[in-house]
Amino acid sequence: MATREWDAQTYDALPLPHVAWGQRVLDHLALTGHERVLDAGCGTGRDAAALLERWPTARVVGVDGSAAMISAARERLGGHVQLLVADLTEPLPIEPVDAVMSVAAFHWIADHEALFTNLARSVVPGGRLVSDCGGQGQLAFLDEALVEVTGRPKQGIRFAGVAETERALTRAGWRVERVELRPDPLRIEDPDLLETYLGAVCLGQYLAELPADEHRPFLSRVRGAMHEPVVDYVRLEIEARR
Ligand SMILES: C[S@@+](CC[C@H](N)C(=O)[O-])C[C@H]1O[C@@H](n2cnc3c(N)ncnc32)[C@H](O)[C@@H]1O
Repeated sequence: MATREWDAQTYDALPLPHVAWGQRVLDHLALTGHERVLDAGCGTGRDAAALLERWPTARVVGVDGSAAMISAARERLGGHVQLLVADLTEPLPIEPVDAVMSVAAFHWIADHEALFTNLARSVVPGGRLVSDCGGQGQLAFLDEALVEVTGRPKQGIRFAGVAETERALTRAGWRVERVELRPDPLRIEDPDLLETYLGAVCLGQYLAELPADEHRPFLSRVRGAMHEPVVDYVRLEIEARR
């Protein structure tokens, strides 16, 4: 499965709700501090850094499909973390880890059973998976705005629900501990910031199909079609044990 590139610098400079999502994942990860942890879809390395701040003796392996994200992570983390560009649905060239964490990444991957099967292979028996990602119902309002602007619903992403996620985890060899949906709407009143946010976080795959000088007008039309300046996030929170 092809991964795509991200504008890592713009992404990292935004007021991201991902920071709080990452802290929740770390809360639930509840390490002792001696584990080796895979950050699946690590992006710019923010959560790996936060993990090492909480548990300085832990070790982290960061995997992401975007070379730009891994390069930004390398700048942030230096040599403290093993980082590699790889697709999470393909066998990972790493020694099995004690736990897997992931923030805001799994909804970008269509086949969750293949993803969870691959992650199960990369973790020791008894190891935990703790993840936050977009869940069923997420971005329904943004989707309405996109239909108005483009004439078609949001492409390329399907936000999974609880039952299908529990099924996919079980089939992939995980024991489900908790799968829940949690609405977490984000209001961004500043129009410029909202457009930048939509471009860097939500609508990258649309921008990739447009010439650069059409990016801002497109984002502006989508923002104008939104009923409220709200990115209607619904988080799917996952805890499972191998
Ligand atoms: C919204 S970003 C989240 C990054 C980081 N975890 C954070 O919270 O800021 C989603 C990340 O998932 C990565 N990603 C998406 N699909 C992937 C795949 N199949 N394999 C590896 N990484 C993937 C993207 O490259 C991107 O860095």
